[in-house]
Amino acid sequence: MSDILIRDDAAIRVITMNRPDKKNALTQEMYHTIARTLDTTADDTAIRCIVIAGVPGAFTAGNDLADFMAAGSSNEQREFGTSGGSTLLHALLRNPKPLVAAVDGVAIGIGTTMMFHCDYVVATKASTFATPFVGLGLVPEGAASLLMPRAMGHQRAFELLVMGRRIDGEAAHQAGFVNQVAAPGEAEAEALKVAAEITKLPPEAVAISKRLMRLPPEQVAERFALEGKHFGEQMRSPEALAAFRGFLERKRA
Ligand code: COA
Repeated sequence: MSDILIRDDAAIRVITMNRPDKKNALTQEMYHTIARTLDTTADDTAIRCIVIAGVPGAFTAGNDLADFMAAGSSNEQREFGTSGGSTLLHALLRNPKPLVAAVDGVAIGIGTTMMFHCDYVVATKASTFATPFVGLGLVPEGAASLLMPRAMGHQRAFELLVMGRRIDGEAAHQAGFVNQVAAPGEAEAEALKVAAEITKLPPEAVAISKRLMRLPPEQVAERFALEGKHFGEQMRSPEALAAFRGFLERKRA
């Protein structure tokens, strides 16, 4: 079974992260598959809305920390913007179709960052949103430092982005980045209902309105680049490598 499942439900393309044994931690291959699917869907006139979903219990536990560990300790300098995470976030940023997220479980790191590139988010109360970058010796990514304070105010964003506090679906709803709290197990079904509603709208008018509502892509891309520079430097820092090692070895202690 593939780690990324893609299916169409009428005019809705559903992208499902499907690596349940690792809480949907994202590998380079998974990132690139999602990004490619987003890009090919962008020009597909038969598709009017995209749903991004996980499995029960996990939207995604974020970047695969074993991958981070390998990249942080390798001597090879990865060119900025070529990592899977960055590729996925850019693909979300440039996608003109309405993006609906269905969250039922952990949405950690890039899992939370992705919400700020979506247009509508459905989550169960039992979901967990967290951006533990600073605790891992890292910094925000994917323009989260720009988009999160814009969406929920500086102080609430500081709690999440810098202090690494976790919040559930209800708190995320109150913070303003979850539209709808679904009943247990119903996030994807509700997201599909929302997506079906969106597909009935005139697609050109939807695309233009979405573009007008979002910040200019060049402004967001500039923040991506600035965060990416710091992120790349921090990933090799002793504090980050110690944090990755700590997570990977925690069960052996
Ligand atoms: N990278 C690699 N593997 C991960 C992972 C990640 N980000 N998140 C979870 N996993 C793996 C675990 O190592 C474990 O694998 P194992 O069974 O082979 O040991 C499996 O997924 C299940 O995770 P576990 O921690 O046992 O589940 P849990 O329900 O107790 O906790 C989380 C779930 C998501 C809260 C916890 O796994 C976690 O904190 N993960 C790291 C999140 C993170 O820091 N992401 C990076 C953000 S930048």
